[in-house]
Amino acid sequence: MITSNNLSKPSQPGPIGVFDSGYGGLTILKGLREKLPQYDYVYLGDNARAPYGTRSFELVYEFTLQAVKYLFAQGCHLVILACNTASAKALRSIQQRDLPQIDATRRVLGVIRPTVEQLGACSNTGHVGILGTPGTVASGSYNIEIEHLNPGFVTTAHACPMWVPLVEYGEASSPGADYFVRKEINALLAADPQIDTIVLGCTHYPLLLPKIRQYVPEDIRILSQGDIVAASLEDYLHRHADMEARLTRGGSCRYLTTDSAERFSAAAGVFLGKKVTAARAIL
Ligand code: DGL
Repeated sequence: MITSNNLSKPSQPGPIGVFDSGYGGLTILKGLREKLPQYDYVYLGDNARAPYGTRSFELVYEFTLQAVKYLFAQGCHLVILACNTASAKALRSIQQRDLPQIDATRRVLGVIRPTVEQLGACSNTGHVGILGTPGTVASGSYNIEIEHLNPGFVTTAHACPMWVPLVEYGEASSPGADYFVRKEINALLAADPQIDTIVLGCTHYPLLLPKIRQYVPEDIRILSQGDIVAASLEDYLHRHADMEARLTRGGSCRYLTTDSAERFSAAAGVFLGKKVTAARAIL
């Protein structure tokens, strides 16, 4: 069991922290480790309290801040919120209000901005669809960022409340998942038939990609965030040599979960295509 008593010295270099409410952030971690395999990583899934997507702003902020502090205590100088819901509801407050008080030299980065930065080059019609959790959609974060970076784009954000539970409970490949995937894709495309690019704006959704692809017409592009966030982090580290110097380079990854370590190890192994051993984290 890992607790925040196992602190490493703040001045020592450390791993990159990757946080999600559960298994979804593994899709980001995979992209990061493929693109930037030289660094060490600590993955934390708050499986005990997932899903976040239907929770209030206050709770998502509170849980995310706890997780960030926990990862800092594990020696991370840089934490990626590999969760759109946490990026939408907690990132700004943590960056602006909490970090200056906790340690102004540490950084917390999200997944929404890097994703939106790619959209201009992807869409020809300027009509984009965002699939996300109810929390991400209600926050309006994608609409605001897209309007800011691509004025004139038409954004339709659609919530898929059942998709995260399907993934968290190991039902992503089940025949039952087809019903919920088809239902939400049809609703999105009915709302704006000119959409030519769909963003999977929840890190859990790539785990449903084989089914999503089945119900989305071939000429519509589907963007997953793993590669996008990895390319964006690589660019960030080129521009921030001071942060790069504070990352250890052992190529390792530790997996932590707030729920059962055995269950996480088994499920994460399926998602990542290799065996992993997780430990329980007490936030
Ligand atoms: N994977 C998270 C996201 O990207 C949220 C899943 C949840 O609802 O907990 O939004």
